[in-house]
Amino acid sequence: MFMAPPATDIAPRDPLLPRIVRLRGKRREIRGVWSLEVVAEEGEPLDFAPGQFSMLTAFGVGEVPVSVSGRTRDGIGLVYTIRAVGAVTAALCGLRTGAPLGLRGPFGAGWPLEEAAAREVTVIAGGLGLAPLRPAIEAVLAAGGRLVLLYGARGPSEILYPADLARWQSARRAQVEVTVDHAGPEWHGHVGVVTRLVPRARFDPDTALALVCGPEIMMRFAVSSLREAGLSDARIFLSMERNMKCAVGFCGHCQFGPHFVCRDGPVLGYDRLAPLLRIEEL
Ligand SMILES: Cc1cc2nc3c(=O)[nH]c(=O)nc-3n(C[C@H](O)[C@H](O)[C@H](O)COP(=O)(O)OP(=O)(O)OC[C@H]3O[C@@H](n4cnc5c(N)ncnc54)[C@H](O)[C@@H]3O)c2cc1C
Ligand code: FES
Repeated sequence: MFMAPPATDIAPRDPLLPRIVRLRGKRREIRGVWSLEVVAEEGEPLDFAPGQFSMLTAFGVGEVPVSVSGRTRDGIGLVYTIRAVGAVTAALCGLRTGAPLGLRGPFGAGWPLEEAAAREVTVIAGGLGLAPLRPAIEAVLAAGGRLVLLYGARGPSEILYPADLARWQSARRAQVEVTVDHAGPEWHGHVGVVTRLVPRARFDPDTALALVCGPEIMMRFAVSSLREAGLSDARIFLSMERNMKCAVGFCGHCQFGPHFVCRDGPVLGYDRLAPLLRIEEL
């Protein structure tokens, strides 16, 4: 008679083999950007740590790394916010509800939230860089930490998650500032690049941690402003993007100096990144 093995004997998932998941729902966030709600076929909860990414497959097209931007409302699925920039991201954003897709991961090192929850956290995000930071913001607020969020978008219609921003703005221990690069007369908020907001941020450089995600050029300027404000390199964390294939430290595609971004990152401390970011085109 066949005996099912005890749960402890079940082999762990091969990290190179995608599991089949389903698109339970999708939502257009801004032009060309969709949030996809993904659930496991067998219905078991999908887990992740804020800042981690998954490899998502659009069958017949290809596989790409995408950060987890949240959990589904019932807590069992994951949300990914994706900008359609090429073949795979366009195919993922074009999937219909109920369609299967492939999922590997989550992978990588996330935001240092064990340290962050206890203190104050300054988050600087540019454009879609708010996506991997959203779960970290929720975790900091849920743990009673103090949040300063500086967010920059190209224009008012490019602002991601406006409902979440409004909710965070009304949180007791939060300072939320939003700026846009360009705006018409209907916009009454800040205008200018996000780093101009750093002097407005109220944080203690001796205790605060800074979490930064956005285009690499924006992150470089954000780091300079944070250092000018007195933050040491060891208190600044960036989420890095590099081309990926295996996502588990085998292939070397994502190598950045001595680090594999898929395994050692994507979140890395600026104290480790500083010497590498000084090397052009690395
Ligand atoms: C750790 C990690 C997390 C990521 N998280 C997200 C996320 O949450 N949401 C999201 O939309 N994307 C995210 N990306 C970027 C995403 O993986 C790329 O946009 C995707 O690989 C592009 O594949 P494609 O086949 O659609 O386009 P391609 O045909 O590969 O590229 C189309 C165009 O997009 C540009 N492009 C390709 N990759 C990137 C990139 N990484 N950044 C900017 N431009 C790029 C190319 O230069 C080209 O001009 C992440 C990447 C990494 C490494
Ligand atoms: S993607 Fe293969 S080593 Fe990082």
